[in-house]
Amino acid sequence: MCGIIGYVGTENASRKLIEGLKILEYRGYDSAGVALLSKSELSIIKATGRVEELEEMVVKKEVKSEYYCGIGHTRWATHGSVSEDNAHPHRMGRVTLVHNGIIENYLELRARLEKEGVVFKSETDTEVACALFDKYYEENIHPCVAIYKAVREIRGSYAFGIMFEGYEGRIFGLRHRSPLLVGSGSDGMYLASDITALLPFTKTYSLIEETEVVELRENEAIFYTHDGIYDPVWQEATMNYDQAKRGGYSHYMLKEINEQSDALRKTITPRISGGLPDFSHDGISRDIFQGIKQIHIVGCGSAYNVGCIGARLIEEYSRVSASAFVASEYRYSPPVNMQGTLIIAISQSGETADTLASVRYAKLCGCRVVSIINARESTLARESDKVIYTYAGPEIAVATTKGFSTQLAILYLLSVYLGIYTSKLDTEVAKLKIDELKRCEGVVSNRLKGAKSVESLAELLYKKENCFFIGRGLDYFMCLEGALKLKEISYIHAQAYQAGELKHGTISLVENETPVIALMGEERLFDKTLSNIKETKSRGAFTVALMPKNEKSPQECGDFVIELLGNSLIEYLFDELLCVQLLSYRVALLRRCDIDKPRNLAKSVTVE
Ligand code: F6R
Repeated sequence: MCGIIGYVGTENASRKLIEGLKILEYRGYDSAGVALLSKSELSIIKATGRVEELEEMVVKKEVKSEYYCGIGHTRWATHGSVSEDNAHPHRMGRVTLVHNGIIENYLELRARLEKEGVVFKSETDTEVACALFDKYYEENIHPCVAIYKAVREIRGSYAFGIMFEGYEGRIFGLRHRSPLLVGSGSDGMYLASDITALLPFTKTYSLIEETEVVELRENEAIFYTHDGIYDPVWQEATMNYDQAKRGGYSHYMLKEINEQSDALRKTITPRISGGLPDFSHDGISRDIFQGIKQIHIVGCGSAYNVGCIGARLIEEYSRVSASAFVASEYRYSPPVNMQGTLIIAISQSGETADTLASVRYAKLCGCRVVSIINARESTLARESDKVIYTYAGPEIAVATTKGFSTQLAILYLLSVYLGIYTSKLDTEVAKLKIDELKRCEGVVSNRLKGAKSVESLAELLYKKENCFFIGRGLDYFMCLEGALKLKEISYIHAQAYQAGELKHGTISLVENETPVIALMGEERLFDKTLSNIKETKSRGAFTVALMPKNEKSPQECGDFVIELLGNSLIEYLFDELLCVQLLSYRVALLRRCDIDKPRNLAKSVTVE
């Protein structure tokens, strides 16, 4: 949610900022802006819409000036509409800044500052912070002193990149509950919201800890705390810039869908030993479950959906009580007894504010936290007791795909691991389950090779405005994911329903040609779901069945049938996942939607 980039060095700062902003654009794309410093002037250039529009304006301006220092921002609007006035950078007096996060007490601060004579130009919380920094930035005061004074009054989350008049050629950065990194390159120093934006320039980075302020100069970064200056820990990024490129694909989403069998192999292989799950690779032993009475899985959006599947698998294989919670609700309706609760937090980005808040709450209650994360250099990784990384590589498209599939694989492995621990799963049965998981990689690559039926279905659906996904058992949770994907990128309204529940009210929405897509991997519930398909067919629905091969003739089961690949429930689930991802992609393509950057969204949701 909002991306920050900063650069000071020997090269052209405007090019650096624009390149960084293009990478950060997935964090928000309502508007973009830069503040650029040359030897003679500070220019602030802003544009609503995409970074490309900003780039055109910057190129025109660049002809006259040589910029060596600057800060840039790509915005996902929270406070204030999408407009140039509300776009960052903001300037107040002698301070110019960019911000990611939310200043929760901004109205109170704004009223106070207005009484003191400050006149605001925007509706944003950010401009209030800017005014506060300016207020404390008096003659002969080092910016750090002003920063520490101002942040004492700010409540909320923030990462700031700030330039102070009088300290030309320096950028100050600080953060609280929003990510911010410093990159050290051969041609200068960088500031960025995430590691991918540093990769074109450098792989050497340092995290900024809370309470620290960093001052970037052309060839050094000075890290301050309240007590003085200290030496940062520099690290080397494990990721390559090439991994974050679109390659030959028309969209990141398509690239990421296609990367899934590889991502599954990388994620699963190191966690299997002797045919059984083994998390020693992650520094996790069976001790993690000692004294555990229940498991709570927290996540948002797709991470919650996959968490629902995980909770069911854990209960089935280990008989340990497990429930999934939407992270934004978890703190506000916490379970009565948190004692003996293991938290599994799921997040592709590791930066989702609500997931982080749930984890912080659970830790206050004394719970242990194991997180399943894709992004290595993330806040959640640092705040968890143990981390199980998915090796999906950078996920850039706003809609998650390989993030979800690798999370599902880890949850499956964990549930079998726990099943062995509680002795509810016999070792031989556990080995069979792991064999089934290993076969999923092949299911995924076969579906990718033969997606013709999904493409034909997309042709039949793309003009619809409503759609139902129905299923029972684990299929229902995959329906949640199917509906979310379709809504998110194609803007078709879709709803997931437990197949048996439709007739308790919602079936009244089914009319002639309403698409009803049934996911039917749960073979034990096949006939029940089939009856529910028939009920919708009788009301005129256009029925679609994603079903395993069985004795039923496809014509009997739906107007359009896709035969699921594989021989076991987990294989069927992976194939269902691939089908709903590809279907959403194709439908969105036919509807000419902006697939990688759907409207109103951002990839990393760092606000609550
Ligand atoms: C949907 C989607 C979102 C994310 C959610 C959580 O396609 O991508 O629903 O799953 O915002 O994000 P992470 O996993 O980064 O915490």
